[in-house]
Amino acid sequence: MNKAIRVHRTGPASVLKWEDVTITSPKPGEAIIRNTAIGLNFIDTYHRKGLYPLPTPFTPGVEGAGVIEALGTKVEGLKIGDRVTYCSDPIGSYSEKRCFPADRLIKIPRGITDEQAASMMLKGLTAAMLLKHIYVPKPSDTILVHAAAGGVGLILCQWAKYLGANIIGTVSSRKKAALARANGCDKTIIYSESNFVDRVLRYTKGEGVPVVYDGVGKDTYPGSLDCLSMRGIWITYGNASGPVPPIAPLTLLQKGSLFMTRPILNHYITTKQAFTSLAKELFEVVKSGAVKIHVEQRYQLREAAKAHRALEQRKTVGSTILIP
Ligand SMILES: NC(=O)c1ccc[n+]([C@@H]2O[C@H](COP(=O)([O-])OP(=O)(O)OC[C@H]3O[C@@H](n4cnc5c(N)ncnc54)[C@H](OP(=O)(O)O)[C@@H]3O)[C@@H](O)[C@H]2O)c1
Repeated sequence: MNKAIRVHRTGPASVLKWEDVTITSPKPGEAIIRNTAIGLNFIDTYHRKGLYPLPTPFTPGVEGAGVIEALGTKVEGLKIGDRVTYCSDPIGSYSEKRCFPADRLIKIPRGITDEQAASMMLKGLTAAMLLKHIYVPKPSDTILVHAAAGGVGLILCQWAKYLGANIIGTVSSRKKAALARANGCDKTIIYSESNFVDRVLRYTKGEGVPVVYDGVGKDTYPGSLDCLSMRGIWITYGNASGPVPPIAPLTLLQKGSLFMTRPILNHYITTKQAFTSLAKELFEVVKSGAVKIHVEQRYQLREAAKAHRALEQRKTVGSTILIP
């Protein structure tokens, strides 16, 4: 029998239940994948808690890698046995086997392991969206990255360093600060101990940074805006500490004609072409060694609740994998 983690009502990590799930034959255009590694993402906790509402019951999970076990009709370019990876919709990667639209699967290139692929599709493509589509750092830029030792954070910092940027990263502990510095950060600020706005302004001689990549949300607002130079951009791309409260447009004027965007990866990979070309850029930086994928924690899939607790308690660094 195929097993999966199911959510019947939203709530704390204990709502994640390990259950039998029937898997049907693939429909035209679909593939059945036997997952070999599943990526843990902060977004999974928003789904579980109901912050990003989904109809119940559902199987969480937005990132994974595995092997094709069956194919529906009308699938081109893939065969049974291919190693593939995927992210985003339809959600449901917390399962031993699952169905997925074949045209949203990417063959895993040689040289990339299943664990690496499952750790980087959502997190790495998010970094690619931020750095390639929203604000491309110039070598002369000093940029600010919050939660620099996290899953997205470690990839983002290494990639931004590869592009030549000078990086200030915020983190909550000395251990995380050391990891962030080993992965691209020039300076780190322990924002739970010191005022990150004062430190950023000191590092930039009062000028501020042209961009803040902010996946933390509530706790770094409004400080993130106060770190920006005139006409800088605040990219608020996540809510690890909770959602940001409503903001009046006049606030952006008063703080220096600032820009603000609240992006989600799905909206940047709407076409197959956009998806595959962003994935190609990600695989290239990983294969070249410019970006290393840090799989720092592993849990059995059936222990997903433990993994969620660790992520929410800020005990993880880099990427976390669930093994079916
Ligand atoms: N917009 C998109 O399309 C998109 C896609 C993927 C991910 N995201 C967002 O990117 C962010 C990072 O995702 P991730 O999966 O890589 O997670 P992660 O960064 O590995 O974990 C979240 C980190 O946020 C920091 N944090 C600050 N305040 C926190 C709090 N009150 N509770 C928990 N953590 C807190 C922690 O780092 P410190 O201990 O160092 O503070 C924690 O390790 C999330 O906000 C996620 O929603 C957005």
